[in-house]
Amino acid sequence: MTEKEIRQLISIALDALKNSYAPYSNFNVGAALLTTKGNVYRGCNIENAAASPTICAERTAIYCAMNNGENKFKAIAIVGGKNGNCNEFCPPCGVCRQVMKEFCGKDFLVIFGDKNLNYKTYLLDQLLPHAF
Ligand code: THU
Repeated sequence: MTEKEIRQLISIALDALKNSYAPYSNFNVGAALLTTKGNVYRGCNIENAAASPTICAERTAIYCAMNNGENKFKAIAIVGGKNGNCNEFCPPCGVCRQVMKEFCGKDFLVIFGDKNLNYKTYLLDQLLPHAF
């Protein structure tokens, strides 16, 4: 992916974060998932009073894509922070890494972005080595 494409995906993730529902943690997360067909699916974290039904932004995006008949993915951009402040990178949780592993190849690109469109990229294999 070009730098411009990566920054575009981060911008979409920042927009997706606006839909985040996180009244318990006040930690808002947004994600933008690029499919091999070139479509982008957005995700945000959605919390619940009972805690365990809470879902992360990354899984929301992946399941949204699956629900729309797409299951081949190229990259995901993730942004997040306390009160929606994306000053720092927001690495995906272990559960989301395992879900990525279920549907994405080792060369799936995971982009950590911030509000200034700075970023770091990793291959899924780097984030979840020796995966189950
Ligand atoms: N969260 C995500 O959406 N993605 C991650 O990878 C890390 C955590 C959400 C879940 C919860 O709503 C909040 O951030 C605090 O953990």
